[in-house]
Amino acid sequence: MTETVTITRDGEIAIVTIDNPPVNAMSFRVREPLRKVLETLAGDSSVAAIVLTCAGRTFVAGADIAEFGRPAQRPDLRDVIAMLEAIRKPTVAAIHGTALGGGLELALGCHFRIADKGAKLGLPEVKLGLLPGAGGTVRLPRLVGPAKALKMIVSGAPVPADVALASALVDATSESNLFANAVAFARDKAASGVASVPVRDRGAQIVGADLAAFDAEAAELAKKARGLEAPLACAQSVRNAITLPFDEALAAERELFTKLVSGDQSRAQRHLFFAEREATKVPRVGKEVSPLEIRRAGIIGAGTMGGGIAMAFVNGGIPVTLLEMNREALDRGLAMIEKNYAISVSRGSLSEDAKAGRMALFAPTTDYADLAECDLIVEAVFEDMAVKREVFSKLDAIAKPTAILATNTSYLDVNEIAASTSRPQDVLGLHFFSPANVMKLLEIVRGSRTAPDVLATVLGVAKRIGKVPVVVGVCHGFVGNRMLSARSDDAENLLLEGASPGEVDKVFTGFGWPMGPFQMYDMAGLDIGWRNRKARGQTAVIADRLCEQGRFGQKTGKGFYRYENGSRTPVPDPEVAQLIEDSARERGIERRTILAGEIIERTLYPMVNEGAKILEEGIAARASDIDIIWTNGYGFPVGKGGPMFWADLEGLPKIIERLEYRHGLSGKDVFRPSALLKRLAAEGRPLSTFVGNG
Ligand code: 3HC
Ligand code: NAI
Repeated sequence: MTETVTITRDGEIAIVTIDNPPVNAMSFRVREPLRKVLETLAGDSSVAAIVLTCAGRTFVAGADIAEFGRPAQRPDLRDVIAMLEAIRKPTVAAIHGTALGGGLELALGCHFRIADKGAKLGLPEVKLGLLPGAGGTVRLPRLVGPAKALKMIVSGAPVPADVALASALVDATSESNLFANAVAFARDKAASGVASVPVRDRGAQIVGADLAAFDAEAAELAKKARGLEAPLACAQSVRNAITLPFDEALAAERELFTKLVSGDQSRAQRHLFFAEREATKVPRVGKEVSPLEIRRAGIIGAGTMGGGIAMAFVNGGIPVTLLEMNREALDRGLAMIEKNYAISVSRGSLSEDAKAGRMALFAPTTDYADLAECDLIVEAVFEDMAVKREVFSKLDAIAKPTAILATNTSYLDVNEIAASTSRPQDVLGLHFFSPANVMKLLEIVRGSRTAPDVLATVLGVAKRIGKVPVVVGVCHGFVGNRMLSARSDDAENLLLEGASPGEVDKVFTGFGWPMGPFQMYDMAGLDIGWRNRKARGQTAVIADRLCEQGRFGQKTGKGFYRYENGSRTPVPDPEVAQLIEDSARERGIERRTILAGEIIERTLYPMVNEGAKILEEGIAARASDIDIIWTNGYGFPVGKGGPMFWADLEGLPKIIERLEYRHGLSGKDVFRPSALLKRLAAEGRPLSTFVGNG
């Protein structure tokens, strides 16, 4: 095993290098040798200054997240940073790649920071349900001021090196030769003879800070926290940095960190961190499989999804050939894309030049022959098997032999679509979510014959275009939409038996969802489900009646709610309440008060149960994949870790008992507890760590 911390010398400058692949996390095996090295160098009179740097692709990317929840081992990160900060000779962090979390906190323990121009610096702990726990909340405001520190810490978003320089987070940036520049910088500081001031002793930025403005900003942020504790703790801790002496603020930060790290929300968010990375490791697609090169993508259909998918590729720097049935549809699609970019420009998140650059990456066409040069083609035409089969047989004739052919179908059988080509090994589903240029989730649907290199390629493409990929198998609705159907299965009965759409939705938002099911139907458009039901010979008592009255949701100003003057705010509608009451009376149902617990039990428990069935069938390889799908595609609250993680918090025996009760009452299949759920409960094992054979 190589040493994790080494010292080299450049004359009187000592260069300390941390080498703990892949991301130089501050594990115990780094902290202990680093402590020793710092102790040695502090007392070595031949050393005039110290440069702290990292081997490999990045500076320290944080504390070792895998160590959280295990017994603490000293020295902890705070001990090491305190030692570093106490060193009297100049210390310089030379930052490349990413200095994140504990990594940036370590750099804040140095007198100076010099960053490669491509580096990024941030405190993303909030995304793990934490706050920076090694002095970040107390030191950062001393460098950049409380307002900027608050924004960085509560958002968790890293800043690029030039922004870090402008806000005095770093002292210099380096175009090239970071390490040589850092050594020269350290040498200058040592030679100057001026005592370097540690960050803890720099108070200018926080003395006389405008607390009222700070509190107003913090209150705004709190409104967006939606039940998450960490953003509030982050704000409190930065406030402490202003109001308390350094050591007291540090102690208060520790107390808040300790509380968060042992709480369910942070456990849930850490589960999601590792789950997201695990999801990219796909059964039967090993590291030996080489991905194909994707230089140009083709998108068929420039409607709601095709337009968004095309933008996602272009945003990732991949040129797109965009095909529509005719010129009008193409122009309409392109106009929508241009409008979306114009909105980004007006919000200041995109420059006019960048917009022009992106628009230039689109090659619009109505001629299938133009797709011949594409390496990956995604079909996003109407959800109709006959239309899809026709498109794929045309593609089969014109696409280059190495091209990957993908469908964005929401429900249809990917194997049947693949069978309309002579190359089913090159066909798969790429199920994007609406709006496709924004939503992170990408369900990659592996057909029965999809080749491993095709999967390896699209996993790489997903990363390039900023998506969170999860590979799933073929079934009606795949993982996400299939579980969504289970969640909705009993929802109308809740209305008939006594709840209002508003009451059901309020339970959902109280749980942490961005919206409830009835708001979601209204937003998506009730006509879609209505058309689907009619095609499949199914009915829905309330939704069908609403559709018969032309109430399609937001787009018609009326659905389960009313929307006044084009507003998107749902307003309860007495006409809907009457319709529900009438429907109940016709069915002889006596309406009653329905409590929150029952609403959860009749919507979310069936969803968990369906997830377990999906695992049994091998449609998803791991329970954690399901959690990634639900938190990234459907708004399941991250603080609850996804439906599988939440099921463990809720308790499998309780869920099974209630499902059995509901199954007894209704006979509905969604309530019949899955064998897997029962087996895990009997063995006392968790659901969220289940790995099957998908
Ligand atoms: N601890 C432990 N493992 C980590 C880690 C960390 N901080 N950061 C990354 N890893 C692991 C990943 O799990 C992955 O492992 P695997 O290969 O076995 O799946 C491997 O390192 C590579 O990670 P990525 O696939 O994410 O690599 P990328 O190159 O895509 O991204 C990164 C690199 C931007 C550094 C990204 O890994 C990242 O964002 N890491 C987390 C950063 C973070 O949250 N830091 C704060 C930690 S909490 C903290 O510091 C608390 C402190 O305040 C006390
Ligand atoms: P849409 O109706 O907005 O767009 C479909 C587009 O395809 C239209 O512009 C149409 O002109 C074009 N088209 C139809 N046949 C074509 C052909 N033969 N050649 C070229 N273009 C053709 O539909 P939407 O919503 O974009 O859906 C597309 C697909 O994406 C469907 O399979 C749908 O199930 C799926 N999907 C939809 C989601 C949504 O939220 N709307 C989410 C995820 C998937």
